[in-house]
Amino acid sequence: MSAKTETPAPSAPGVHPKPFWSFRPRSDREAGDAVVSNFLLHWFPAKTYKPSLDWGYSFWLGTASAALFFLLVLSGLPLLLLYVPSVERAYGSVKDIEFVVTFGSWIRAVHRISAHLMVAAVFLHLVRVFLTGAYKNGTGRGQRREWNWVLGVVMIVLTLFLSFTGYLLPWDQLAYWAVTVGTNIASSVPFVGPEVRELLIGGRTIDQATLIRFYVLHVIFLPAGLGALLAYHMWRIRKDGGLAKADRWTLSQEKTEAPATRTKTYSLLGVARGQAPAIRAVTLEARDTTVNSVNDLVRRIAIVVLGTFAVVSILACFIPSPLEEPANPMITPNPAKAPWYFLWLQEIVTDTTLKIGSFTINGAFLGGVILPTILLGLLLVWPWLDRSPAGAAGVWFHASRKRQNLVFLLLVLVVLAFTIVGTFLRGPYWNFYWPWEAWPELPTRI
Ligand code: HEM
Repeated sequence: MSAKTETPAPSAPGVHPKPFWSFRPRSDREAGDAVVSNFLLHWFPAKTYKPSLDWGYSFWLGTASAALFFLLVLSGLPLLLLYVPSVERAYGSVKDIEFVVTFGSWIRAVHRISAHLMVAAVFLHLVRVFLTGAYKNGTGRGQRREWNWVLGVVMIVLTLFLSFTGYLLPWDQLAYWAVTVGTNIASSVPFVGPEVRELLIGGRTIDQATLIRFYVLHVIFLPAGLGALLAYHMWRIRKDGGLAKADRWTLSQEKTEAPATRTKTYSLLGVARGQAPAIRAVTLEARDTTVNSVNDLVRRIAIVVLGTFAVVSILACFIPSPLEEPANPMITPNPAKAPWYFLWLQEIVTDTTLKIGSFTINGAFLGGVILPTILLGLLLVWPWLDRSPAGAAGVWFHASRKRQNLVFLLLVLVVLAFTIVGTFLRGPYWNFYWPWEAWPELPTRI
């Protein structure tokens, strides 16, 4: 390891600094110093394992999710100054943001697009972590990757609720009825269903109490909770010795190393028996398995974060945010759909509703409560049910995990297929229509 410590020459008087900040450490020492002396960079370890930086391992989906969360907070701040959480004024304030405030429609679009993309990115991140067995512990001491997985499951639930609570705020027909459909599922819980719904919406109907409840959850509790869990998620990754791929890679490196040698004993003048510690002849660092976090890790994070910002900013110029008629509890749209990420549930509810003669067995309980609870429960405990060897951690489609990966992928495909059917192929009365089929003319129900 080279440890040159030259200090950069002070800029000559009259010479203007470069318009873009750039930093290239000239030695390992300088790279390490950069990490500890900079507020933003001190979150990172001084060194990163090379395999963690592979684009094709993590696809950086976790980093993209974090970037979207950051963008949501950033774009949410100006909206917070303009939005009024009252049934009488909410719709008007959103209309003002959309049509009167300078750049208002763009800021609203950035916020809305980031929210949708974050749900998708977090879901894909979960799928990647499962398929690479990255919740498994390797050989490092004190690893608790399974807890980071459990934490992740809680985070995806919070992400969904963060998005769901934001859905109601424009107080238009779309918002009102999507939240009505979503919260109606909660009332199917046996015995306490109506009470659960009442707790959620603050009464029997969706009105001012619901709006203020969703607003406070959306702007304070859910983002604060998610932010705190995210900090813990990141800390755990460091504590677990980095990403699972690095762990598995160092394991294979160790196998090829020279065997440990016995060098000295702790025995006390030969009177007490001592244990001879094994000293590794070759250290991992000497084998060049790590790189400096500054710049190798920082550059990649900057590319992912700035790339995410750029994609969202461009999309926001072309995709306008919807704003329908003001919410009207007397006019039910047909079909009334939940937000897209809950449509697979709405679809299961319909498919598990059975009609036997004049009896109807309501599917809301089976499809809306029992099935999702089982799925969520299985997700939470899966790291303890997965019996594959530690060597399967951090490997895409490891042979020992073939069966579980197949079943998992099948479930993912079912969820995606149901989401697509619910979004594009369901018309009035939740009947199935191909995209080229016209929906029948319906009288407006009052
Ligand atoms: C708000 C949501 C989330 C954010 C912002 C987030 C962020 C991250 C980041 C930045 C990483 C580093 C690797 C990468 O960039 O992909 C990571 C890794 C990880 N995440 Fe997440 N995550 C979230 C949700 C989840 C979920 C839903 C799960 C699973 C249920 C999960 C489980 C894990 C695990 C086990 C690792 C370590 C992966 C490995 O060792 O390869 N995370 N997360």
